[in-house]
Amino acid sequence: MKQDIINKVSSILNVDKDLVKVEYPKDRSFGDFAVPCFPFAKELHKSPMDIANLLNEQLDYDTNVVNGFLNIKMDKKAITKNLITKIIEEKDNYGTNEYGKGKNIVVEYSSPNIAKPFGMGHLRSTVIGQALYNISKKCGFNVSSINYLGDYGTQFGKLLYAYTTWGNKDLNGGSIIDELKRVYVKFHEEAEKNPELDEEGRKWFKRLEDNDEEALKYWNWFKDESLKEFQKTYDLLSINRFDELSGESVYKDKMQPVIDEMEEKNLLSISEGATIIDLGDMTPALIKRSDGASLYITRDIAALYDRKKRYNFDEILYVVGNEQSLHFEQVKRIVDKMGYDYSDQIKHIGFGMLLQGGKKMSTRHGKSVILKDVLDEAIELAKTYIKEKNPNLENIDEVSKKIGVGAVIFNDLKNYRINDIEFNLEDTLRFEGNTGPYLQYTYARICSLLNNKQNIEVSYDNIDINEDKWNLVWTLSKYEEVIISAKESNDPSLIAKYLLDLASDFNKFYAHEKIIDNDINYTEFKLKLSEAVSIVIKDGLGLLNIGVIKQM
Ligand code: ARG
Repeated sequence: MKQDIINKVSSILNVDKDLVKVEYPKDRSFGDFAVPCFPFAKELHKSPMDIANLLNEQLDYDTNVVNGFLNIKMDKKAITKNLITKIIEEKDNYGTNEYGKGKNIVVEYSSPNIAKPFGMGHLRSTVIGQALYNISKKCGFNVSSINYLGDYGTQFGKLLYAYTTWGNKDLNGGSIIDELKRVYVKFHEEAEKNPELDEEGRKWFKRLEDNDEEALKYWNWFKDESLKEFQKTYDLLSINRFDELSGESVYKDKMQPVIDEMEEKNLLSISEGATIIDLGDMTPALIKRSDGASLYITRDIAALYDRKKRYNFDEILYVVGNEQSLHFEQVKRIVDKMGYDYSDQIKHIGFGMLLQGGKKMSTRHGKSVILKDVLDEAIELAKTYIKEKNPNLENIDEVSKKIGVGAVIFNDLKNYRINDIEFNLEDTLRFEGNTGPYLQYTYARICSLLNNKQNIEVSYDNIDINEDKWNLVWTLSKYEEVIISAKESNDPSLIAKYLLDLASDFNKFYAHEKIIDNDINYTEFKLKLSEAVSIVIKDGLGLLNIGVIKQM
């Protein structure tokens, strides 16, 4: 609709299309769209008022003029008809667009650390990253996803020492991840009393760097076991694959060339024995420790080079918590200093923490909360609710999984990512309110209505597009625009909020009108409108990686 207005206005006035802005009038009674005429005044040497009047005469829309704005009223029936037909025809292609056509984008997300449980901290990276991946696809980008495991660094030296010294070979059915956690904590306790242990840790890390067979054997085993464990969580979240499963260790032999290049470009200096890059007003970046051990940021630079080469990205997103902001600022600054021109393509997609009662989420014993436990708990609670609501429902397990997991994901994504968010399982799972289950429930309700569809042609002659219906159509028509804004700002919450608006428009319409009545034509119209809503809810939730259920 907007594009049509832009085309017509620019051709009547003979001005550039970029100059034509289509806005929404402050007062909806003026019209559905407004074109401000101030931007043309200079070029056309006419007053905005005169220009608005000219357009008022020549445009083949229902228009009026208020203070240099041209207001346009749309033909509600025609628009409603076209839009409903389009959505039902296109189904999950509705909203697909070419915003990113011909562009390569890399999304790095999830990236948990091996030998540690998959914590709530990585939940946010995983769900925000997956949503941005889906949204980018919908916008026509050529998208590649990377899971960059934390599988390297001096802490693995400590872990190797700890496990070979105190580890129980017999796990008695317990998980190796728990055992590794136990010995790692013990290492830190013991090292307080006996600082020499740090030296032992360094030695083990050196062995790992030198590809010592025993060190590698343990390390590989830690990694395999961790991946098996992570996979359970990915399965629950319906994340089937990453285009690339990589990790910091991939770059262990690729750092020296990077360091050499920095040296050649005269960027390195020595500070207290360590090798650093001075970054001007920013905290210097530590490139190599005084004992020669390599560092996180050095691996990140090596990984970035490699990705630029392999993916030739136009944009790379790093979905990592706010606490690493400085790190990514440093990465960008280093890229500039090295003389490359693509630091603007590097985007840190930061996010806040999950809080409980205003404090960082932790277990009763002050430990970090494990994601899979929370998801399992959500699924259990969903099951309790469903049993109350609909005890005879088939496939209760499947349904509870979609609702429980969807609730946790939605709670995360409905908030602007940079903010810390409060996590409360009960609130997250409420069927009324701004929740995932509320949207899934709205979808299921529409599905059961649709059993009454007769699949006949609707005649619009006697149909009145009242305010409830027009609001609904209006919101439906904005789907593509919202998807593009969500990509532009890399903010999935715009989609979550949009879906809540759509559901609330639908529920208003549903509350005010009897959908199934004696008038077959009118009933069919209302059902088709509802069907269009269900298509968009399903697709929008899909962008957030949340499933829908036909019956619940
Ligand atoms: N594994 C890291 C962590 O848990 C996140 C990795 C972020 N990505 C990166 N390229 N540095 O903190």
